[in-house]
Amino acid sequence: MKNKFISAYQEQKNYVEKCLKEIAEKHTLKAIATLGMESMNYSLLAGGKRIRPILCLQSADLYHISNEAILPYASALEMIHTYSLIHDDLPAMDDDDLRRGKPTNHKVYGEAIAILAGDGLLNLAYEIMLNDLLHGYTDGKLKAVHYIAKAAGIHGMVAGQVLDLQMENQRCDADLLKKIHRNKTGELLKASILAGALVGGASEEDCYYWEQYADHLGLVFQITDDMLDVIGNVELMGKNTGMDSKKNTYPQLFGLEKSVELAKCNANSALCCLEKIEKDTYFFEELINQLLERER
Ligand code: IPE
Ligand code: IPE
Ligand code: MG
Ligand code: MG
Ligand code: MG
Repeated sequence: MKNKFISAYQEQKNYVEKCLKEIAEKHTLKAIATLGMESMNYSLLAGGKRIRPILCLQSADLYHISNEAILPYASALEMIHTYSLIHDDLPAMDDDDLRRGKPTNHKVYGEAIAILAGDGLLNLAYEIMLNDLLHGYTDGKLKAVHYIAKAAGIHGMVAGQVLDLQMENQRCDADLLKKIHRNKTGELLKASILAGALVGGASEEDCYYWEQYADHLGLVFQITDDMLDVIGNVELMGKNTGMDSKKNTYPQLFGLEKSVELAKCNANSALCCLEKIEKDTYFFEELINQLLERER
């Protein structure tokens, strides 16, 4: 199952890379402000795991939606994620200078253009999804865009980022830490899975269990991200370690050993949710196992 997972992941990653490049090229040709577009492309095409679009492709596939049909939503999710990284790295936020193995956007283009590149990616994401909706409306597509908008904004990722920054240099309790992680990271991962399911017309019951699964996946993802800030390898991750000293993280609050245990506990809960979905969910199962061992 592990090998099947690795080759499926790699194949879809190649597909996502190719499509993002094509979308970037198309919009670059039309761009008025080439510097802005260049700055957007710099971060969007710098690699990364592409986990959000892949989750979206995979869940759509379970409901018989082709890669081509779900692509606008999958690529939009990666654009929203990339915008969040550009802004997350700004001096006013986490002040990081390495991302995806390259100097952060603001280090190359300056803070003003980096902010605008983030704004550009965020809006391009909605332009692409709404363009698809205009050319072939379905209720499922509309629900997916709405779900993504909610998850990315003040009821999701933005809220998590606000709380993360607000609590810098202050100790928060376990409940608040979980809330931060669920929102800043979990919500967009959840939206990635739900977008595929909603476009595919998944039942309310399936959506419920996907949400539960994604909630635990989000926590596994951010707990391991926190751990990698302590024990990770800079080359492998393409971002600096030791950056979270002001932050509330799982290792800060619980120590490394207990963080591993909590990640495993969430992983087990995620696997239980999959049992409720009557589909071949091997990819989602193996992803959880891989996240526990991830080095990037
Ligand atoms: C980093 O996301 C930000 C977090 C939510 C922890 P990823 O770890 O998915 O970053 P890339 O896309 O692979 O660069
Ligand atoms: C960021 O979390 C989550 C986002 C919404 C970008 P982190 O600040 O921990 O992400 P990294 O460690 O910089 O990738
Ligand atoms: Mg941050
Ligand atoms: Mg950060
Ligand atoms: Mg981090």
